[in-house]
Amino acid sequence: MNKTLREFPQDIQLYLMESFGFPVTIEKLSGIKSDGGCHRLRFEDTSVIVKQMKEPQEYLFYKECTKYLQDFESHIPSLLFSHKEEVDHWIIIEDLEKPLPKDRWFADKEVLQVLFKFHTRTWGKDLPLKSPYSPSWQDEMNHRVLELLPNNIRGQVEGDLFRLQREAKDLFKPICWLSGDTNPTNWGIRRDGTVVIFDWERICTGSPAIDLAITMPGLGSDDGNLESLIASRYMSMWSELSYELPFTEEKLIKDIKLAKLWSVVEFLAKNWTTLEHEALSNILDKLITRLMKRP
Ligand SMILES: Nc1ncnc2c1ncn2[C@@H]1O[C@H](COP(=O)(O)OP(=O)(O)O)[C@@H](O)[C@H]1O
Ligand SMILES: [Mg+2]
Repeated sequence: MNKTLREFPQDIQLYLMESFGFPVTIEKLSGIKSDGGCHRLRFEDTSVIVKQMKEPQEYLFYKECTKYLQDFESHIPSLLFSHKEEVDHWIIIEDLEKPLPKDRWFADKEVLQVLFKFHTRTWGKDLPLKSPYSPSWQDEMNHRVLELLPNNIRGQVEGDLFRLQREAKDLFKPICWLSGDTNPTNWGIRRDGTVVIFDWERICTGSPAIDLAITMPGLGSDDGNLESLIASRYMSMWSELSYELPFTEEKLIKDIKLAKLWSVVEFLAKNWTTLEHEALSNILDKLITRLMKRP
């Protein structure tokens, strides 16, 4: 449901009215999650995004983390205003009206360059947040996903799932900061062409392979070509630096594939109750096919 201006907290209303006047339209935007509290407010000469959240991480990212990212700031929406209430946190941020076009959803060089810049600027650094999202692959996630599978399939993929979980351990070592949600709907293009990434509620630390994997729609490519292209483009950016990435291209390709499978397992385990039946069975089918195909 679209909100009316009066349904926003008074401080937000005041900021908006004083800065831009009365909104012409207020439109609810939905991301991957259907419960998102994101609105686009259009005014006579501009538009802004107002985002409401229960968990404080994204609010804290804009308030506490962006100051450590000085020469990366152009790739993050500008924070115009923030507001904290007892339960909810609010941010008003720059509207990137142009989404990343679909023909740029696959190993886009500028997208990878932005991630490369973000990862290298934050390499080895701690996050200045008390309880950020922490990516992990827990046994319970496997059990949950296995319960969603038909009986005859469960036994066939159970071993693979637990093997993949063990192989994926390296992904969760704190190597650098991650957006944690680089999916193609979380990118926009500024008028001057700058590629910008938003939706920072999963800011965390881990392996760059996680951010690289999540840029791929769905489960990535069947033949592995997309994963290889992402890895080779990312590695070639490193080769321009005087120090080397502490893993080989082969390892990065393997980790991107593992990270994609982990992200799907995590997504299913967290969202299975709210997904529409068709969407759920669609993802499960793809996951089964992928698990059965693995050597
Ligand atoms: N700064 C922004 N500029 C343009 N669109 C945005 C911006 N922030 C969010 N959106 C839009 O709102 C949707 C939901 O916001 P997002 O921050 O991704 O939340 P979530 O995915 O957690 O619901 C996005 O997919 C995008 O379409
Ligand atoms: Mg999103």
